[in-house]
Amino acid sequence: MTAPQRQNGGRVLVIGAAGNTGRYIVSRLTELGVPVRAATRQGGLPGGSVEAVRFDWADATSHDAALAGVERMYLIAPREVEDPSALMLPFIERALARGVRRAVLLSASAIPEGTPGHGTVHQALRERMPEWTVLQPSWFMQNFADPKHHFGAAIRRDGLMVTATGQGRVGFVDAHDIAEVAVRALTDERAHDTAHVITGPQALGYDDIAAILTRVTGRPVRHQAVSTDEAQRFMEAGGMPAPYARFLAQLEETIRNGAEDRVTQTVSRVTGREPRSFEDFARAHAASWR
Ligand SMILES: NC(=O)c1ccc[n+]([C@@H]2O[C@H](COP(=O)([O-])OP(=O)(O)OC[C@H]3O[C@@H](n4cnc5c(N)ncnc54)[C@H](OP(=O)(O)O)[C@@H]3O)[C@@H](O)[C@H]2O)c1
Repeated sequence: MTAPQRQNGGRVLVIGAAGNTGRYIVSRLTELGVPVRAATRQGGLPGGSVEAVRFDWADATSHDAALAGVERMYLIAPREVEDPSALMLPFIERALARGVRRAVLLSASAIPEGTPGHGTVHQALRERMPEWTVLQPSWFMQNFADPKHHFGAAIRRDGLMVTATGQGRVGFVDAHDIAEVAVRALTDERAHDTAHVITGPQALGYDDIAAILTRVTGRPVRHQAVSTDEAQRFMEAGGMPAPYARFLAQLEETIRNGAEDRVTQTVSRVTGREPRSFEDFARAHAASWR
């Protein structure tokens, strides 16, 4: 089998380049010598050593410049938009018309192909993109450390996580492990052409997370299990738009019902190394909760 022709120098457009996965993907691709264009809403990255472009999903006038000369792209949806497909599907068509031939989409384990939103984008990539991968990670460990995330903020403020997850367990995963899988999907000679369900090494409940954070930080952290409606109200009270809060609360209900209680071998199979445990993650980020 012959290697595919590299178009546009193999340049990779990374959307969400300042985010949890995007930041890490940009630095790994740069280390590997892959030409990268980092897309952010501000149009730059700290340090300024990587080619950058201003990109906003909601502003179609920013799309052509982002796509010029690109062969591959990493796609992450606009934040807190309940159905991002209306913005993402036309962009994928535009990318195809401009010579993009490989795309890697960050979706979620909770979102099956073909369902509204990310699931529709997933289906479009499989059907339309010559080379494609959809990443379906479980929930990110970073949610607990990020002060902009409602869990990260509430842990810092009140030592409390309020969820509708009950005793349900989740295969929490470090975003860096997801990014490592993304880098392989973007750079491997042979496209993965599949969906990867990605988890960390253990399924843990939010009570377990609270216990680990208490032990590691030396500050009491609690988990309060509430109904789906109460979880939604809690997220709205923190400033989240109501439709997105509803969506997240319903996902928490699926966790309560066991939907995320699993671990997969994707990280070790694709990257050749073991995924990080939450205990290890918490120790590495301990300073961020002090
Ligand atoms: N967090 C989880 O537990 C979890 C679990 C499974 C799947 N996911 C998926 O992961 C994605 C979010 O990841 P994350 O929570 O780690 O967030 P993140 O990547 O740290 O932050 C979101 C990124 O999206 C960019 N963005 C937001 N709105 C945009 C817009 N209108 N135009 C262009 N860029 C925009 C932001 O860019 P700027 O820097 O320019 O603001 C930011 O870099 C979502 O698609 C979610 O479905 C998350």
